[in-house]
Amino acid sequence: MKHTIAVIAGDGIGTEVMPAAISCLDEIAQIHDLSLDWNHLDWGSDHFRATGRMLPVDGLETLSTHSAIFLGAVGVPDIPDVETLWGLLIPIRREFEQYINLRPVRTLPGVPSVLRDERPIDLVLVRENNEGEYSEVGGRAYRGLPQEAAMQQALFTRHGVSRAARFAAELATTRSGRVTSATKSNGIIHSMPFWDEIVAETLAEYPGLTLRSELIDALSASLVLHPWDYDVIVASNLFGDILSDLAGAVAGSIGLSPSANLNPEGRHPSMFEPVHGSAPDIAGKGIANPIGQIWSGAMMLNQLGAPRAAAHLEAAFEAALAAGVRTRDLGGTATTEQMTAEVISQIRAL
Ligand code: NAI
Ligand code: MG
Repeated sequence: MKHTIAVIAGDGIGTEVMPAAISCLDEIAQIHDLSLDWNHLDWGSDHFRATGRMLPVDGLETLSTHSAIFLGAVGVPDIPDVETLWGLLIPIRREFEQYINLRPVRTLPGVPSVLRDERPIDLVLVRENNEGEYSEVGGRAYRGLPQEAAMQQALFTRHGVSRAARFAAELATTRSGRVTSATKSNGIIHSMPFWDEIVAETLAEYPGLTLRSELIDALSASLVLHPWDYDVIVASNLFGDILSDLAGAVAGSIGLSPSANLNPEGRHPSMFEPVHGSAPDIAGKGIANPIGQIWSGAMMLNQLGAPRAAAHLEAAFEAALAAGVRTRDLGGTATTEQMTAEVISQIRAL
């Protein structure tokens, strides 16, 4: 089956890890008889400098005709992040109702652990991706004056919270049956008790599951100390964002972490991107870890209905790491290109 995929490599290391992942996916496609047709879109900060927009006026319409969107990262030091994220990433997540941001974290072979204990980590973060703290509601006043102020509202809806909770519950039924919900209902006294109530109501429909609500501060500490105790974690937009970098780093490096921005009903294209950003500190050096982007590509294959191809790709990058090839973020010396070449040779070998 032919799939046309919109590719936005974006900025910084996005432009380095994207070709790496595409070469792995092309190799997999050949073996599994898939037809992946890449439509490269040069949207990102250069486009913003040239046109004043991250996305062209008809950008969302263009994306809507694709089977999936494959994104690297956007953001550069000389343009405010609010322009790059709200000009591209967030409109895509919202317009296409990608209300679940799925972020698996697991221990990979050959990756040095930052933990004292070697028990394997295997958890999935389900981040609500369309509402919550990422809100346009608010404003700033009295700029430059002593009374200068800013106000930022968070918006949680019954519809939005319950569909995230339901997704987490359904996922948990295929795993250990344990769901942890990230909350802060002791300090955030309106939206977080509301979140807790709806998550509990939704989970009550699944008698086989257990639900634990944990305060985000304590949960963050526990994730560092004993991450293997967690399975499915459901969290709001902001809490899920923070926990996913944290959990990724605990598992070895944020450069390994993938994500899928899902429109679970399949009415709109879903978007696949690594958890990390454009990493200006290492951009242009050819040393970025491509695994987060490659793994995001495997998640895309799953969504496109090719689970065997996805499993093959995951097995290949695991074998490449097990063979001892590691980028610098993992304590190795391999370049992006060498890491990618090893994954491709493992794809052929498996
Ligand atoms: P970042 O994730 O780009 O980098 C954080 C740290 O992790 C840096 O030290 C970086 O070198 C390292 N790192 C990240 N990915 C790596 C990889 N694949 N291999 C090796 N090391 C890696 O986060 P930061 O620095 O906060 O943000 C940089 C820019 O990226 C900002 O403009 C930010 O807004 C943007 N950003 C964009 C995202 C997106 O497009 N989805 C997501 C997160 C940040
Ligand atoms: Mg993030």
